[in-house]
Amino acid sequence: MDSAANAVPRASGSDRREFVADLVLSAAGIVGLGGLATRFLQYLYPVVPPEQVIEVAAGRRDAVPANGGIVVNLGVGHVALVDAGGELRAFSAVCTHLGCIVKAEPTDHHALYCACHGGMFDRQGEVVGGPPPRPLPRYPVEVRDGQVFVKVIVRPPVLTA
Ligand code: FES
Repeated sequence: MDSAANAVPRASGSDRREFVADLVLSAAGIVGLGGLATRFLQYLYPVVPPEQVIEVAAGRRDAVPANGGIVVNLGVGHVALVDAGGELRAFSAVCTHLGCIVKAEPTDHHALYCACHGGMFDRQGEVVGGPPPRPLPRYPVEVRDGQVFVKVIVRPPVLTA
């Protein structure tokens, strides 16, 4: 029997180099696709940080006129402080229509007014006129030593890698 006929063909140096190059390219492709898939999943299911309630100083109590109101920028958002017969109330000052900042404009009909489209809110934050679809969100408020403190809800920004 001829031993040359049964011999297994040996890979040449060129075949080995091509195999290693294909292996490296395949591994790089798998790593690349994995990274792409991870980004896509992060896009579909972003990690949303939980809301936080923080207490913010909002000025002196005596700055809010009796049966009137003021709007203050607390850095974490605008807040409307409204005096209702001696009771202090705090609301988000962001209009629930399209997000303009309301202003304190107490009348017999309304306490807060949005100049963008004529939205009006009463001393409960309820809509009494104009297009806003919902009341203003109300925040817990406290007065300590004449200083007003409002607890506002903040949501840290979504971080993407
Ligand atoms: S944004 Fe306030 S009424 Fe439209």
